[in-house]
This record gives sequence, structure tokens and C-alpha cells, in this order.
Amino acid sequence: MKLVILLGAPGAGKGTQAPVLSDHLGVPFLGSGDLLRAAVAARTPLGTAADRYMSRGQLVPDATIVDIFLERLAADDARNGAVLDGFPRTRGQAEALDRALAERGKRVDLALYIDVPVDDLVARMASRRICAAKGHVYNIASNPPRMTGICDIDGSPLVQRTDDLEETVRARMSQQIPPLEDVMEHYRATGALRTVDGRRSIDEVSAALIAALEVGAAEAS
Ligand code: AP5
Ligand code: MG
Repeated sequence: MKLVILLGAPGAGKGTQAPVLSDHLGVPFLGSGDLLRAAVAARTPLGTAADRYMSRGQLVPDATIVDIFLERLAADDARNGAVLDGFPRTRGQAEALDRALAERGKRVDLALYIDVPVDDLVARMASRRICAAKGHVYNIASNPPRMTGICDIDGSPLVQRTDDLEETVRARMSQQIPPLEDVMEHYRATGALRTVDGRRSIDEVSAALIAALEVGAAEAS
């Protein structure tokens, strides 16, 4: 089992890097935001409840996300591990994850923090586009698709996230960075935290994250 968590402020590059690490490790990536956006689009009770918070840039309550995310993590495709993007986001979520893993004799192997200054993040999110089908991530400035407005991977149209308006982005930063710091503190205390400079190019950040994984694997053996 290899369980790796990607930590970072909104827009730091978690969703961009999660598939790279997932390919490298041969385990799935599970994104809490993707899961919530799918629930919003399907208008499930969870989606309706979550949308009220997401559209204001707030975290959804722990009770709304913990059970559904842990249930997803317990699915068969994640039996050998997973890369988690966007969960845990609060100390309470981190503790709930630790308890669920401990019941299975497991633990979080690595928590990789992608460090980017807030001003860079606001600019990045204004030019982000995601595909309507699966949420594959692009950026019209730094990571454009081959054909304008079309996902390279599944051909679906690219759209802007509704929470990427500047006002909502600023609310996300102010509401979500303090609990992120609590989560970092939690993993610093367990010894799982590693920090990677996220200001470099996407490929350079991927290489740094993979290097951190390899060091983590060497330390564990
Ligand atoms: P979520 O979807 O997880 O949003 P987030 O954490 O705000 O993170 P983002 O997806 O905005 O950024 P990212 O780090 O994935 O960056 P990306 O790779 O896209 O959550 C959405 C909402 O759901 C939350 O606000 C909250 O309401 C709720 N929620 C989710 N999980 C929750 C939880 N556990 N508890 C409670 N509520 C929860 O990159 C950003 C852009 O930059 C892209 O355009 C990309 O192409 C570009 N880019 C990436 N890397 C680089 C680089 N190195 N250089 C230049 N550009 C780059
Ligand atoms: Mg994301």
C-alpha cells in the first residue's frame, strides 16, 4: 500500500500533478473537489449541500466529506494505495483519515506540500480551464490544450470553474489556507511532510515530487 497526499493552497497544482504521481506509483488518484463537482453536476443531495459552500469559497463541513471520501478510498481499485488530492483539508479530516487507515494497519506514507505564493495562484486560476467530462486540467497561459477549447485526452469541451472568479478565489485563499496550515502541522508531527517548490514549470515540479517519493521510499525501506 502506498498512500500519498498532495497538499497545497487552491491552484497550487495538486490536480495537475496527481495523475503524474498516480502513473508513477501505479495507484489511482482521488480528488475531493472532482468528487464534489460530480455530485453538484448530478444534483445529488450531497452535491446540493456542498454547492452552497463551494460557490462561496468555503470548505464543506467535515461531516459532508469525510464518510464519502473514506468510502471511496476503501473501494477495490485503491487496495494498493492512492494519491489523494484535496483531502484531508482540516485537522479533523486528517485525524479521521488516520483512524480509518489504522483500522486497516495502514498509515499516510507521505504528505507532499506544493508551495506557491498566493499572488501567483490568483493569476493561475484566472487562466485555468478544465474539461467538462473528467476535470482534466489546463491553463490557457502555461499549459494550453493542443486544440483551443478541447480536451487533449477525451475531446470534451473546456470550461471555466465557477469558483475561479477572482472574488471567490480570494475567499478560497482566506478561508482555506489557515486549515491547510493545521494539516501541514499534523503531518510535520507525524514525520510525513515534504515540501516542494511549486513556482517552477509543471515538468520541474513533477520531477521534484517524484524525487521526494523516491527519497520517501528509500527512507521507509
Ligand atoms: P478543489 O477542487 O480541491 O480545489 P482547490 O483545493 O481550491 O484546488 P484547485 O483544484 O483550485 O487547485 P489545484 O491545486 O488542483 O491546482 P491545478 O492543478 O488545477 O476543491 C474545490 C472546492 O471543494 C473547495 O473550495 C471546497 O469548497 C470543496 N472541498 C474540496 N475538498 C474538500 C475537503 N476535503 N473538505 C472540505 N471542502 C472541500 O492548477 C491550477 C492552474 O495552474 C491550472 O490552470 C494549471 O494548468 C496551472 N498550473 C499547475 N501547475 C503549474 C505550474 N507549475 N506552473 C504554471 N501553471 C501551473
Ligand atoms: Mg484541483
